[in-house]
Amino acid sequence: MAEPKKLYIKTYGCQMNVYDSERMVEAMGGQGYETVETPDDADMILLNTCHIREKAAEKVYSELGRFKHLKAENPELKIGVAGCVAQAEGEEIIRRQPLVDIVVGPQSYHRLPEMEAKARGGERALDTDFPEEDKFEKLKARPRAQRGPTAFLTVQEGCDKFCAFCVVPYTRGAEVSRPVDRVLQEARDLVDRGVREITLLGQNVNAYHGEGAGGAWSLARLIWALNDVDGLERIRFTTSHPNDMTDDLIAAHGECEKLMPYLHLPVQSGSDKILKRMNRSHDRDSYLRLIERIRAARPDILISGDFIVGFPEETEQDFRDTMDLIEQVKYGQAFSFKYSTRPGTPAAERAQVDADEASDRLQRLQALITKQQREIQDSMVGKTVNVLFEKEGRLPGQMVGKSDYLHAVHVTGDGILRGDVRPVTIVQSGPNSLAGRLTQG
Ligand code: 5AD
Ligand code: SF4
Repeated sequence: MAEPKKLYIKTYGCQMNVYDSERMVEAMGGQGYETVETPDDADMILLNTCHIREKAAEKVYSELGRFKHLKAENPELKIGVAGCVAQAEGEEIIRRQPLVDIVVGPQSYHRLPEMEAKARGGERALDTDFPEEDKFEKLKARPRAQRGPTAFLTVQEGCDKFCAFCVVPYTRGAEVSRPVDRVLQEARDLVDRGVREITLLGQNVNAYHGEGAGGAWSLARLIWALNDVDGLERIRFTTSHPNDMTDDLIAAHGECEKLMPYLHLPVQSGSDKILKRMNRSHDRDSYLRLIERIRAARPDILISGDFIVGFPEETEQDFRDTMDLIEQVKYGQAFSFKYSTRPGTPAAERAQVDADEASDRLQRLQALITKQQREIQDSMVGKTVNVLFEKEGRLPGQMVGKSDYLHAVHVTGDGILRGDVRPVTIVQSGPNSLAGRLTQG
């Protein structure tokens, strides 16, 4: 058999990129590639890029520059740029960086093997189309390797919401949902390969409307169907938009046994003025009422969020409204960012907030979130939670997993296997994780 060729893939950004990278690795597996941990003696280097924040394109160009000596040593090395920077920059990458052989946008990954062949033939290959066909269907893996206990499964891509700060509708295109039968088939296949927890992914996952029996299915209906998959223990989904939290999805949080009590529901700001300027199409009050309804369905649910501070025209009072909303909601987890200009988006043209002011607000917001996060984590001490064990810990006999609420939990105990879900009594709360012991009896 021929020696496997070596593929080095570096993934930036969101979980959807992680999922896409896995699919690309599988597709290139069919071309005789195996992944390696460093770019040093790779036959192909792929950067799966993210364009969501700060100077993404510049970072990609500087990263590419670092591969120059590798290409000098090995002229057969092929270098590709995938992901949202590839989509946004397109031909500019080919023009600006002669080292690059392949530029492939997120909707064209199934064409990567052909593009690699073209590059091997000495041509440079660019594809940033939004083709009709289902790339995931075409990207199906050949050998079915065993998997770890958790996996992502992309069910929806793209976004029609056009928040004024965001590039996603431009780089990932319009909202598209994968058909129900393909999702269920992939889920069963993952479970056969050892997966116990599936996180359904989509930029607007709760706007899911995939074709199924009797017409378009909601995300809740899909989750109920997954609930019946034997061997699957846990279901999660991310990222949701407040306006797409339908009644059936809220109810599922109370009723669907495998759906975990965790919800990532970005609000971005707590000021009505800023939400309007962001084109978020929900306001502060509707978000707070929504949280109340979700908590009524599932009182112990852990809420996570995304925040942008220093959005154009954000005043100190607007920022205080955000802090006040955070006080009311109490977040178990949150991601917060300073606004950064994305060329081509509506907000890019507007008056920017002073950079020091924005940094100061971000610090204050993060301090509040850290405090809430820690309080919620500390409140787990003494409780019994289910933990899905994922890997060995650093200490002998120690295993690490995630609770239903997505807290990392360390447990030392005999006979715990990867993939087990076991009840654990939490005994201690540390800076980033909990410690527990197996609950007896
Ligand atoms: N500046 C700062 N943060 C942004 N996000 C998206 N676009 C921008 C931007 N231009 C954040 C939002 C989104 C998360 C994925 O990234 O909070 O929910
Ligand atoms: Fe971007 Fe808004 Fe769409 Fe989320 S909902 S992907 S923030 S445009």
